[in-house]
Amino acid sequence: MIVSPSVLSLDYSRFPQQIDELNKSGAQWLHFDVMDGHFVPNLTFGPDILKAFVRTSPLYKDVHLMVTDPAFFADVFLKAGADLVTFHYEAMDNKAKMKELAAHIHEAGGKAGIAIKPATDAAVLKDLLKDFDLFLVMSVNPGFGGQKFMPLALDKIHTLRTWLNDVNPDALVEVDGGINAQTGAQCAQAGVDVLVAGSYVFKNDITTAVRSLQK
Ligand code: DX5
Ligand code: ZN
Repeated sequence: MIVSPSVLSLDYSRFPQQIDELNKSGAQWLHFDVMDGHFVPNLTFGPDILKAFVRTSPLYKDVHLMVTDPAFFADVFLKAGADLVTFHYEAMDNKAKMKELAAHIHEAGGKAGIAIKPATDAAVLKDLLKDFDLFLVMSVNPGFGGQKFMPLALDKIHTLRTWLNDVNPDALVEVDGGINAQTGAQCAQAGVDVLVAGSYVFKNDITTAVRSLQK
């Protein structure tokens, strides 16, 4: 299981200690929630914050764009050091543009992901399965950490994993929102590959929490 702690919940007044703990925790990835105050009613950070993590952590940089203009911000965050850029299905109005942006991310040397909100059916992704490296199932409405896990994500994880096994077995399924040891185990059972966890990791001992998700 890949664990991707969401640095949305990190205590920035203790950045050096927290990044040191993350680096030693056994987590393989770090998850960056980029919110533009428009696609979601919250505002987070720009590329300079990602660069601070690039300088201080070798972990894989998993960038989740919750923005109205993913094509613009994909480039901004790739230049800042993102390894994977995931944008929302709901932010774009046609699939040709989604495929084009995925190809553009690949040309820039990154991996491309696509995310769906809780209200979006997994079936909309059926003709995009070969174009992306990662499929992100949101298990809360995007915008804030600390919300309750929505079990409707479990079916979507299972469905996507089953479809991908046929056509793009190397692609990953990621879940984000309300993940703790219990909901993480349910997602693992459903076939998820990557667990994002924010409040659960940072409200507890970081290493203990990460290990409990890897089990
Ligand atoms: C929500 C973000 C999540 C958030 C998860 O919009 O996409 O990544 O940080 O936080 P928790 O784990 O607290 O639900
Ligand atoms: Zn996220």
